[in-house]
Amino acid sequence: MAVYIVGGKSRIGGSVRIHGAKNAALPILAAAVICGDCVIENCPDLTDVAVALDILQHLGCRVVREGGTVYTHRLEGGDHCIPDALMSAMRSSIVFLGGIIARHGKAEVTLPGGCELGKRPIDIHLAALRRMGVRIREKGSGTLVCSAPRGLQGTELALPFPSVGATENIIIAAVTARGTTRITGAAREPEIRDLIAFLNGCGAQITCGVDGTITIQGVEKLHGVTHRVIPDRIAAGTFLCAAAITGGSVEVQDVNPGHLLSTLAYLNNAGCSVTTRIDSVLLRGPERLNELGIVKTLPYPGFPTDMQAVLMAAAAGAKGTSVFVENIFDGRYRHVSELLKLGADIRVLDRVAVVTGVPELHGGQLRCTDLRGGAAVVLAALSAQGPSVIREIRHIDRGYEDFSGSLRALGADIRREEAEWNGNTDQSAASGDEKKL
Ligand code: UD1
Repeated sequence: MAVYIVGGKSRIGGSVRIHGAKNAALPILAAAVICGDCVIENCPDLTDVAVALDILQHLGCRVVREGGTVYTHRLEGGDHCIPDALMSAMRSSIVFLGGIIARHGKAEVTLPGGCELGKRPIDIHLAALRRMGVRIREKGSGTLVCSAPRGLQGTELALPFPSVGATENIIIAAVTARGTTRITGAAREPEIRDLIAFLNGCGAQITCGVDGTITIQGVEKLHGVTHRVIPDRIAAGTFLCAAAITGGSVEVQDVNPGHLLSTLAYLNNAGCSVTTRIDSVLLRGPERLNELGIVKTLPYPGFPTDMQAVLMAAAAGAKGTSVFVENIFDGRYRHVSELLKLGADIRVLDRVAVVTGVPELHGGQLRCTDLRGGAAVVLAALSAQGPSVIREIRHIDRGYEDFSGSLRALGADIRREEAEWNGNTDQSAASGDEKKL
């Protein structure tokens, strides 16, 4: 099992190119199930994307990756079931459901896996699909058997919460449905706009109103397209925070600064100097950050829940007290236990976390609790005094291409060890003097 060995007291400096967005690539790959031959550029090389490519092949698409480009070729036939091993590998496998039903008129999937972020129900997905004419029943413990004997039918849908995944699932199901689907209360994340751009490129008829309503006029069939996935705003935000936490500077390149506004506002208020250009952001961190104020996660364009853990790592060493309110997921404070091991002062009550910045964090024996929480722990360890060993880094591989390599190229003292972890937790392992890994 791989680990990171982090030296501590790193100062980030330099520039980093940001890869394509995981959360845009995944629904686009799910939509490719019902499209003609596609060329998907800037497709990040992540374990979650590898799972999506496996699912796509299983469902009847030939898939070839050449560097950052993925070619999909729709074959005849294909399965309407996703094996449990693939479903449970990541939560977003559920966004394949709408496309499978659209293609086969039926689908069989088990309940999805992914990061442990408290309760993650899929009731909004299922209620919408039912209204579009899908019969859904549960077989055994957690297998969904879906069928649309008369095909999918467009309808009016008012979502009770702007769920990103449910919005994507409905859009994919609706593009080839009979009639018009109108979604009010839909999610507005940039990754949804990217999915819509991809599908419209394939011949779909999707429009977004100024009030956020998404209207999908069903079409007979979709052709292929060449599409470039948008940059990963969460990866970009993570590297910006790395510079902010370590008092360093970084230029994130190939980004859309407009997607980063809420994160940049917090970092700017905390004392960072921020310069945005058309496709890059340059951030210079102060010696020590000021407190971040009240950080509330909200649906886009609010502050993203995926940045909450990373920003909390910044708050842990800042001057003064910052307050976090997690409004999107319950149970998204699992990283707090790891930040406490580094000497952070954080108190959690339900959805609120009060972070009193300490002058210095110290290294420790840590684990990644989930994807973004894992990135937060790495950044905190980089800023800490003394070495750290970080386990369970497979979570980070789900969302960051060569995270340690990118940080090292920016001057961070971090390396990845692929050796077996033997449970030894002494500091000599962390320092690398006498490796016991
Ligand atoms: C997506 C992102 C994830 C991000 C999240 C919120 C992908 C692959 N993942 O996840 O990184 O953190 O958006 O921006 O794009 N909910 C229900 N019922 C449902 C669906 C959702 O109650 O049927 C609740 C969830 O439990 C959660 C909230 O709605 O509390 C937000 O979930 P959702 O927007 O669906 O997140 P995901 O699509 O899973």
